[in-house]
Amino acid sequence: MQSVTGTLALSVFTAVLGSLEFGYNIGVINAPQKIIEGDYNATWMYRYGEPIPTGTLTSLWSLSVAIFSIGGMLSSFCVGFVSEWLGRRKAMLINNLFAFIGGSLMGMSKLCRSFEMMILGRFVIGAYCGLASGLTPMYVGEIAPTSLRGALGTLHQLAIVTGILFAQVLGLESLLGSEHLWPVLLGLTVVPTVLQMALLPFCPESPRFLYIVRCQEHHAKSLRRLTGRQEVGDMLAEMKEEKRRMDMERKVSIPELFRSSLYRQPIIIAILLQLSQQLSGINAIFYYSTSIFMKAGVQSPVYATIGAGVVNCAFTVVSLFLVERTGRRTLHMLGLGGMCICAVIMTVALALLDSVPWMSYISMLSIFGFVAFFEVGPGPIPWFFVAELFSQGPRPAAMAVAGFSNWTANFIIGMCFQYVADLCGPYVFLIFAALLLFFLIFTFFRVPETRGKTFDQIAANFHQHSAGGMMDMDMSIGMGMDIDKPSTEMDYLGEDTMN
Ligand SMILES: *[C@@H]1O[C@H](CO)[C@@H](O)[C@H](O)[C@H]1NC(C)=O
Repeated sequence: MQSVTGTLALSVFTAVLGSLEFGYNIGVINAPQKIIEGDYNATWMYRYGEPIPTGTLTSLWSLSVAIFSIGGMLSSFCVGFVSEWLGRRKAMLINNLFAFIGGSLMGMSKLCRSFEMMILGRFVIGAYCGLASGLTPMYVGEIAPTSLRGALGTLHQLAIVTGILFAQVLGLESLLGSEHLWPVLLGLTVVPTVLQMALLPFCPESPRFLYIVRCQEHHAKSLRRLTGRQEVGDMLAEMKEEKRRMDMERKVSIPELFRSSLYRQPIIIAILLQLSQQLSGINAIFYYSTSIFMKAGVQSPVYATIGAGVVNCAFTVVSLFLVERTGRRTLHMLGLGGMCICAVIMTVALALLDSVPWMSYISMLSIFGFVAFFEVGPGPIPWFFVAELFSQGPRPAAMAVAGFSNWTANFIIGMCFQYVADLCGPYVFLIFAALLLFFLIFTFFRVPETRGKTFDQIAANFHQHSAGGMMDMDMSIGMGMDIDKPSTEMDYLGEDTMN
């Protein structure tokens, strides 16, 4: 068992500041929606001398929400390239420039009477988040000792949900969610940025990157700082073995993933699992929960939103313990099934609201249940599942495809939810219920259980024969949206190769 040294704790803390900021930007535009829309209207009045048409306002707002995911979609594709080119640490450092520019644009948009600046700022901060969501788990996974990798990796996810909660609390109208202070609320995103920039120079570069990618020899010094030990021979040997196995396996390109019959089935599963995470409707809740609660007749919708954030945090911790005991497939199906039932209850409650007043409580409870079930399965599982389905060679390409699918689905939800909700009224969540049912059935028939299996056995599940002796699992990289919990059970899988 490894102890946590000061350097390791500092490095992990510094890295997950990026995840915190990522979560903050997911949650931050929820509460002040009506106020910012009012400002868009005021800007329109100022420019054109007439109130903004309702349709234009809905479009501008949806674009402000959704362009975040376009930024993330584009940049999540670059994680592999940037992290190899600059190194993990310098990539995180330079990425902060995006956060700084994005935060400043959003913070000054009211002053400059420009919703274009707001939209551009959301795009730039989205690009930051796409990179951060790949770089943070990669760096943390690489600097963590094997025995602590799962636990430290989970901190990334925890930082994201904490960021969402921060944003919800600060977004209260009595704090920063007011007409005059919302620019501060959005601009505040530069605070963790500045902190991370100040701390990163004190963190060592990932020794795995130095040795395996760059073939440099300073890695031993960096290892000594992280472990606090002088004698690091065992870890050096482990890294050597990892490099040997990596050199043996050919890199697989993205088109090859789809052409080769060897990879086609796992990549389809990987994509559908990502879609099950995003199309479950969870971000519809997070982006629009305040207005959903308002429609549901909840008296103080903002506090209900914060309640959902607390449930989200709590169940992220709960899932950490569950995922070590129950299989991934079981948990994923439990989560999808629970969300599906909650969505149906929510619909019924919203539909009966006019005749039965206490239905507002039922709808609130079902939203809480929806969030809780999400964090049990569809939230954390798809990310480390992708890393498990593929060995070292095809893994980077598979992670890129998975990240792209995740952000794309996120974008579609951000863009369309408001329109569809206006169109369908309370029945909008029946669409998600139907999708959830579909994903539940797909998981039941198609998704294998991977807990406690080596990559060989997982591959043999897809083909009659074993794929060869590639069982490296070190790169527990998650690079996508709000939820990636890199491999809480990776240690478990890797028993035969790592220990
Ligand atoms: C825009 O503001 C004007 C007056 O300031 C108001 O009458 C109008 O309803 C607002 N439009 C929207 C779409 O909120």
